[in-house]
Amino acid sequence: MQDVHQVQPLIGFGLGRLHHVLSRRQRERIVRGAVDAGLTHLDLAPAYGDGLCEAETGRVLQGRRMQVSLATKFGIPAGALGGRNTTFYFASKFLRRTFSPSYGGEYGLRDFSTETAIRSVEQSLRRLRTDYLDCLFFHEPRGLADLPAVLETVEAMERLKRDGKVLRFGVSASTDYFLACGGGSMVGDMVQFEVADTSPALVDQVAKGKRTSAFGLLRFLIGHGEGPPRGGRFDYRRVLEWFFGRYPATMPILASNRPEEIARLGRAVRDLPAGLAMGSGCPHQAPTIPFRARRLPSQRNGPDAPLAQSR
Ligand SMILES: NC(=O)c1ccc[n+]([C@@H]2O[C@H](COP(=O)([O-])OP(=O)(O)OC[C@H]3O[C@@H](n4cnc5c(N)ncnc54)[C@H](OP(=O)(O)O)[C@@H]3O)[C@@H](O)[C@H]2O)c1
Repeated sequence: MQDVHQVQPLIGFGLGRLHHVLSRRQRERIVRGAVDAGLTHLDLAPAYGDGLCEAETGRVLQGRRMQVSLATKFGIPAGALGGRNTTFYFASKFLRRTFSPSYGGEYGLRDFSTETAIRSVEQSLRRLRTDYLDCLFFHEPRGLADLPAVLETVEAMERLKRDGKVLRFGVSASTDYFLACGGGSMVGDMVQFEVADTSPALVDQVAKGKRTSAFGLLRFLIGHGEGPPRGGRFDYRRVLEWFFGRYPATMPILASNRPEEIARLGRAVRDLPAGLAMGSGCPHQAPTIPFRARRLPSQRNGPDAPLAQSR
């Protein structure tokens, strides 16, 4: 195994929509642009484009493995075509979307068995052209019905850690999943939850020592009427100040398929005041700040300070 580097990024960058980008050159710009902008923790999954997202990332980042931290997942059934041949993948996707009534049905299925976990990790390692994953997540277990399989596969996760193939593991799921299934569902070293009205309650329940990350931040703000007006863009600095004000030891996972937005996000992260976030590498400390969903703008700069900015 390679020497394990110490990348402790403040925010993560999600590649969950990379497979929506038809142009290979544009996909390269997104992945390379993120890392060049300092967004060096990448969130991926085999299910993002049937391996396309992982394979593209592995190809683009060849020789730069030590600069990045890679999180991937398993459990949502994924094919292999996207990782093998993007032209056939997009053609097949078009045909399935047009003619197959079951198109997209795999997102409703889960397989968290030990065999699937091990097979999926081997495939992810191959596509990402690496011999270790920084994080491995159970990908969105949905309720109590999925919990027994998750618990049964924890032993295999620990074995993957002992073998050095996985540095840490956890569950990435909706906040409501964790709350419904209780503390026992937060297996492993990491909890990746969705920013929601209920997530402060969840974070208070995460055991000390576990790392936390969160997706759905911009969607949450848009859903609460805090997105930019038509044609506007988020003021990432204010978005991140808002986030870290509530989750100081949690790493937000943000995303964009627009290179200019990625560069802007990178600059906002670079220019954040020191000490605003404790960083994902720090031991978890549950925030106890009360949550007021309707008062999203940072209170420090006045209640009307916008999270969005005009072009
Ligand atoms: N269970 C899981 O593990 C799970 C689930 C969901 C997501 N994730 C991860 O989290 C990452 C982030 O996904 P997310 O859903 O949480 O994203 P998010 O950060 O909440 O939102 C990002 C999306 O918002 C769009 N956006 C930016 N500005 C906007 C505006 N002014 N109006 C409308 N849309 C705007 C971006 O589109 P543009 O591309 O056009 O900029 C981008 O696609 C994913 O890529 C994935 O890696 C994980």
